[in-house]
Amino acid sequence: MKPTPPVLAGPPIIGHTFQFMKNSEELLRRGFETLGPIFAIKLGNQHAAVLIDPDYHQTFFMETDKRLSMHKTYKFLKAALGEVGFTGPPEVYAEQRSILHKPFKSEKAANSIKAMQVEVQQWLDSLGEQGEIELTSAITTVVQNVASHALMGKKFRDQAGPEFWRNYLLIGQALNPVLPPYLPLPKFIRRDRAKNRLRAMLRPIIAERRAHPDEYDDILQDFVNARYKDGRIVADETILSLILALMFAGHETTSGQAAWTVIQILQHPEYLQSVQKEIGECLPAGQTIDARTLVALKHVFWAVEETTRMHPSASTLIRRAEEDIEVGDYSIPEGWILFVCADVAQRLPNVFSEPQNYDPLRFSPDRAEDKRHRFSIIGFGGGVHKCAGMNFANNEMTIITALLLQQFDLELVTKDPGVIRGMGANRPDKTFVRYHRKQVHAHSDTPATNAADACPHLKMLQTES
Ligand code: HEM
Repeated sequence: MKPTPPVLAGPPIIGHTFQFMKNSEELLRRGFETLGPIFAIKLGNQHAAVLIDPDYHQTFFMETDKRLSMHKTYKFLKAALGEVGFTGPPEVYAEQRSILHKPFKSEKAANSIKAMQVEVQQWLDSLGEQGEIELTSAITTVVQNVASHALMGKKFRDQAGPEFWRNYLLIGQALNPVLPPYLPLPKFIRRDRAKNRLRAMLRPIIAERRAHPDEYDDILQDFVNARYKDGRIVADETILSLILALMFAGHETTSGQAAWTVIQILQHPEYLQSVQKEIGECLPAGQTIDARTLVALKHVFWAVEETTRMHPSASTLIRRAEEDIEVGDYSIPEGWILFVCADVAQRLPNVFSEPQNYDPLRFSPDRAEDKRHRFSIIGFGGGVHKCAGMNFANNEMTIITALLLQQFDLELVTKDPGVIRGMGANRPDKTFVRYHRKQVHAHSDTPATNAADACPHLKMLQTES
C-alpha cells in the first residue's frame, strides 16, 4: 500500500483553513516548493491533497465523475445557483450536458461575436477623446453587458440588466468553498434572498419566451427550445438555474483575465508594438470584428493565452475522492479532497521556458509550449467538465483588447497593479489607465482601407476559401 502524501506543516486544529481562505495560491505554492508536486494540507479535520504536475492533472480531470466527485465539493455553488449541470450529481449532469454546452458550439458563435462587438463599441464610444479610467471595473461592466446581451438578449440587457447584476453581486460575495453553505450567516441569508429575487425576475421572461419563441435568438431561447434526449422540455426552474450558472461561470472570470490581458500588453512595449502592427493591418480604423478577423488577430490571441497562463482567474479547482486513488507514489484515501492549482502549475519550469517571463510567442505554432502536455494549461479546466464557454471567453477577451487598442493610445498610470484574491475569481486590483483617442486621417499616406490586402493572415484565409 502506498503512503498518503506528506502534510505541509501548519497550525493545530484549524490547520491551513485561514491561510487557504486568505490566499490559496500562496499557500499551495509554498507547499509545492517545500514538499514537491504532491502534498497535503489540512482544512480543519479535512485532508486535502494538492496535485501540481500535468500528469497528475490528467488523473484529476479524467477521473472526475468516476472515482472523483465534482458536485460534492461544489455544494457552495449549488447553494448559490441551484442544482444544475456541474453542481448536480453525475446523472443530472449527464442529462443536462448537451443542453448546457450546445449554445457554445461554433455555429452559434456569430451571434455572440456580434453582441460583443456592439457592447465593446458602445463602451468605447462613451469614453470621449481623452481621460483616465479604472480599467478593472470598466471592463467588468462591459463583460456584464456582453453576458446579459448574448445570453438573454438586448432587451433584457437594457431593461433588467442593472438590477440583475446588483442582486448577482450578493450571490458572488457569499461564495465560500470552506464554510458549510447553509450556516445562518448574514451573507448567506443575503445570498438566498438575492437568489429568490433573481428567480422571480426571470420567471416572467421565460414565460414570454415560451409564448413567442420565434421572436428571440439568444442563449436563453436555446434553453427554452431545448429538449432532453427523450423529448421532454427543460423545466423553467432548471432554465433559471442554467442561466444563473452561466452568468456565474462567465463574468468575473472573463473580466479579470480581460483586464490582465490589456494590462500585461501595456506593461510590455515591445509586444505592444507587434500587437499594434497586427491591428493596423488586420483591423484598421473603422473596421468591425467578425469571426474571420478574430482568427487573424494572432498576436492578440497569444496575449490572451499568456494571460490565461500567468493570471488564471479560476485558479484552484476541487474534487473529492469517492474511493482510494493512487497518484504518483502516493495513495489518496476515500473522503480526501483534491486540489489542482493553475496559478502554480502553469509556471512550472519543466513545462514552460522561463515561466516567470511574459512571453506570448510561446503559444506561436513554431514554439507551441502549451502542446507539450495536454494538461499543462488548466485555466479552463480539462476533461468532460472543461469550460463550456472557453471560446466565448477567448473571443470576448480578444475583442475587448483589439477594439480598445484599435481606437485608443493607452498608458498605465498604475504601473504594477496587485491581485485581488478571494473565494471568487482572481482579478487585478484598481488599475488606472490614461487614454487618448487615435486620430483617423481621412487622407493618410498609408491608408489601410482594405484589411484583406494588408493583413497576411486574412490574405491566407481568402486564398484557402
Ligand atoms: C476567462 C474566462 C473563464 C475562465 C477562466 C473559466 C474557467 C472555467 C474552469 C476552470 C472550469 C472548470 C471547473 C472545474 O473543472 O472544476 C469552467 C467550467 C465551466 N465554464 Fe468557464 N471559464 C471562463 C468563462 C466562461 C464563460 C464566458 C462561460 C459561459 C458564458 C463559462 C461557462 C462554463 C461552464 C458552463 C462550465 C461547466 C462545464 C461543465 O461542467 O461541463 N465559462 N470554466
